[in-house]
Amino acid sequence: MPKPAIVVHGGAGAGPERLSNLQPAIEAARTVFDSGGDAIQAAVEACVILEDDPVFNAGTGSVMRNDGTVLTDASLQVSDGRMGFVAVMENTPNPIRICVDLLNEEINGLAGPGGRTYADKLGHPNTPVVGRPPKGKKGDVGELGGQMPELDTDTVGAIARDSSGLIAAATSTGGTSYRPAGRVGDVPLPGCGFWVEEGLGVAATGVGEAITTALLSYKVHQQIMGDDILSTEKLQSGMQWGIEQLIKPNTAVGMISLASNGAGVGAANTDMPWATWSS
Ligand code: GLY
Repeated sequence: MPKPAIVVHGGAGAGPERLSNLQPAIEAARTVFDSGGDAIQAAVEACVILEDDPVFNAGTGSVMRNDGTVLTDASLQVSDGRMGFVAVMENTPNPIRICVDLLNEEINGLAGPGGRTYADKLGHPNTPVVGRPPKGKKGDVGELGGQMPELDTDTVGAIARDSSGLIAAATSTGGTSYRPAGRVGDVPLPGCGFWVEEGLGVAATGVGEAITTALLSYKVHQQIMGDDILSTEKLQSGMQWGIEQLIKPNTAVGMISLASNGAGVGAANTDMPWATWSS
């Protein structure tokens, strides 16, 4: 029987000092499992804790867009084939909770005012998100003389597995620094910021444009699935392959993954706090 497990990350570019901020997310998932909850609830409750922690670029701590607005994105995919995602959501501190409702709709995703109307109808809080100004220098990938630009790429993510073998991946972000209002990054795009299928969940963090162009999560998923046995080493080497082969140098990217057995794993080409637990 599969053992309940969770893996979470605090984003590419976030330092080791953020590791302790991940612990409450792990605890939230454990509490869900202890009370008989499933992988969807565990991943979502872990993600909500990270959205509510202002040190992360998601939910409450989301980075401002170029015009000073704060817009949030999130996604949720389940190994039973369902998914839900929202993009460029105004006044939405916990976009991941809207993704839960979308799992049971005919549609998969909503963006902008239409997404907010849907959220209002279901009673999701409609409250301003203060966010934070961008750090680093204005400049896109590769324009900063060969150095890894210091950008707000510290998206959050959680992948959980329950004892039935169900796997759910929840990701959430305020975007990347110096991006316009209306910009859509990797987090709400299937195959880019997340992919869950056939007993394997993968999620990405970092510069959204690079992740999206690479279709990173889907391709890494396919790479890992090429092997019969989804060992921890195979997950690690598959993510490393994706980051090294599909992403340009000096572009901050990280990933986490969790399979139908074993613990979760993280890999990145920069600092990325991640933590895992398995019963
Ligand atoms: N990875 C978060 C974003 O670029 O939107």
